[in-house]
Order: sequence, then structure tokens, then C-alpha cells
Amino acid sequence: MGLPSEAIAETSSHKEYRLERSLVIVKPDGVQRGLVGAIIGRFEARGLRIVALKMISVDKNLAERHYDVHRGKPFFEALVDYIASGPVVTMVVEGPEAIKVVRSMVGATRPHEAAPGTIRGDFALTGLRNLIHASDGPETARAEMSLFFRPDEVLSYGRDMDRWIYE
Ligand code: CMP
Repeated sequence: MGLPSEAIAETSSHKEYRLERSLVIVKPDGVQRGLVGAIIGRFEARGLRIVALKMISVDKNLAERHYDVHRGKPFFEALVDYIASGPVVTMVVEGPEAIKVVRSMVGATRPHEAAPGTIRGDFALTGLRNLIHASDGPETARAEMSLFFRPDEVLSYGRDMDRWIYE
């Protein structure tokens, strides 16, 4: 059975998208609160592909390099101590416009300002305890991926279901 003509027109007018990768970190509070599965599940359910995944302890040196842009700010030390305070789960997710999509799923930096339906808006409440980090742009994503993963740890693959998600 064919599609109605309006549906065909709408489908064929869809813009091209950029296939992007974003570096995501479930921070120590996410691990301690047992929210790793719930957080990863949201990205999978949205249709994003996990192309790298591991649990690590972030040492002070790695934490300082990751948060280098915030060096000198009053909250830098607290930020470094927090991310280095326990195991984190770090991953690379891939998909159409993944950087913006992931940021919108994560929600506002300050959890009390995060909209319901976002990860922070549903699971976090205050201050630095904002559960998750996600790259804020293509350059940052590239730099952060190379900080947390060797090139051979980031995989390229397709899934049978991708044709139901990506046109
Ligand atoms: P994250 O997404 O990990 O990246 C930078 C972090 O800096 C951010 O989460 C916040 O936790 C933190 N941050 C940004 N702005 C402020 C601020 N004004 N005060 C305290 N922490 C901040």
C-alpha cells in the first residue's frame, strides 16, 4: 500500500542531517545512585548508537584536562574533585545531529533549572550533582573523545533496526 501524496512530499523534503558523535560521561553521582542503566537506556531508546563504552576512574590529571576551559573559574577545583570522586561511565553515542540531540536530552546545566523530561530534570536536583556531561560542540566532542578513548576503542557498525530510525 502506497503512502498518501502529502506524506510522500513531506518525506522527500526532509533535510540531510549530520551524523555526529558525542562524548557522554555518567558522573560519579549517576553511578552511585544506580542510574547508569536508566541514562544509557534513554539514549538507546531515542535511537542513538553507542559506539564506545567503559567504566573508569578519572584521575586528577585527566579531570583537569577535561575541564581545562573552566580553569581559573571559582568552581574549577570542586568540579575536578567531583568528577574524580568515584567511577564514571563514559561513552560515545552516534546519530543524526547527536551533539544537539544529546544536549537537549541532558537538560540545563543547573539541575533545578532543567526541564522535566530531560535527564537532569527527571533525576537531578541541585548544584554540581548534575549526573551527566555531554559535549557541547563538534570541536569539543573530538577533543573529549580523544581524551577518554583510543581511536580503536570507538567502533563503526550498523544495526538492523537503523533503517527504522534513520531514513
Ligand atoms: P558539565 O556539563 O560536566 O561541564 C562543565 C561543568 O561545569 C558543568 O557540567 C557544571 O557542573 C559546571 N558548571 C558550569 N557552570 C557552573 C557554575 N556557574 N557554577 C558551578 N558549576 C558550573
